[in-house]
Amino acid sequence: MNVIRLSDLVAQGRVAGRRVFIRADLNVPQDDAGNITEDTRIRASVPCIRMALDAGAAVMVTSHLGRPTEGEFKPEDSLAPVAARLTALLGCEVPLVADWVDGVTVAPGQVVLLENCRLNKGEKKNDEALARKMAALCDIFVHDAFGTAHRAEASTYGIAQYAPIACAGPLLAAEIDAITAALARPLRPLVAIVAGSKVSTKLTILKALAAKVDGLIVGGGIANTFLLAAGLPIGKSLAEADLVGEAKAVIDAMKARGAEVPIPVDVVVAKAFKADAVATVKAAADVAADELILDIGPQTAALLADKLKTAGTIVWNGPVGVFEFDAFAHGTETIARAIAASPAFSIAGGGDTLAAIAKYGIEGDIGYISTGGGAFLEVLEGKTLPAFEILSRRAAQQNPG
Ligand code: 3PG
Repeated sequence: MNVIRLSDLVAQGRVAGRRVFIRADLNVPQDDAGNITEDTRIRASVPCIRMALDAGAAVMVTSHLGRPTEGEFKPEDSLAPVAARLTALLGCEVPLVADWVDGVTVAPGQVVLLENCRLNKGEKKNDEALARKMAALCDIFVHDAFGTAHRAEASTYGIAQYAPIACAGPLLAAEIDAITAALARPLRPLVAIVAGSKVSTKLTILKALAAKVDGLIVGGGIANTFLLAAGLPIGKSLAEADLVGEAKAVIDAMKARGAEVPIPVDVVVAKAFKADAVATVKAAADVAADELILDIGPQTAALLADKLKTAGTIVWNGPVGVFEFDAFAHGTETIARAIAASPAFSIAGGGDTLAAIAKYGIEGDIGYISTGGGAFLEVLEGKTLPAFEILSRRAAQQNPG
């Protein structure tokens, strides 16, 4: 990856006393009371902040949180809980600064957290005036937000165009290096698990993977559309009937390469989408009109676990059932434990996947855990993300020849 790295600038002594603006992805899930329920992204962002602080920089960090309406602050959009968690992790006070676009006071050796950058008008559309103002706040812009690397917004792209120096932080660099290296010459069989509510949001990744992988395990609402494509009943389960043709095309593309999309042989159904709904295991062919499929059945889970045992590389994005409800968690737990036990190199990414990994305590058994959701999928698709495009362009300008 031909970009300037923060570590290079530190090694060259170009960071001490400079104003460093770090775009991190601190977009973490919270419960209704605002408590952070999963903090992988915050912990993963700490090394970059430490690197800049240890090098003697005056450090500004910002992130988006959710998708707020620009210009309309609501308390639930605030990064205040993140500032508290960062304070605990860094062991130094991290003040939260609001209304920061026109100027930030921070001294070398100090770090401040700039309030949710998606509250600034023009952020999403990458407004040039906003990006230039943000760029004027710093000497060095550091993009360390891998989870947002697929977005071209003012704090991720525009600022990288106009800041005096634009570089990649350690997390951004490590993510792209790890994912591309694992997929460059993967140990085969390469098995991908792609699950989630809708085929439509993951259609391009399903198509891209259909050309590369030896096994494509689909789960969640996506599997329902594939069950329809296989001519099986799905009752009132979530599915996209208009995409059955696309699902068939994926199945055919895999078959033509001698690869397969295993279709569930049994499922767990309920009459309602509720944690306390009665769970019934039945053959995939027997789903009734008033039933919802909320998990794969035990026989399917065991068959898939067997495939994972013999895989060389596993890519995992998405739980295969409603694992948040215990009665419908068996499939996801079986898959998670099979991945953990498999000798295959495994790469996992996506918010729900991270939550499942945490729930089953298998963090130490996954080869590489990405902080990206959409960004992770786009790298798997083989796309060049905007973050890398602009950082490479800036590197070429800053180091001509
Ligand atoms: C994510 O949660 O995948 C990233 O933080 C990006 O969020 P976004 O989809 O709202 O841009």
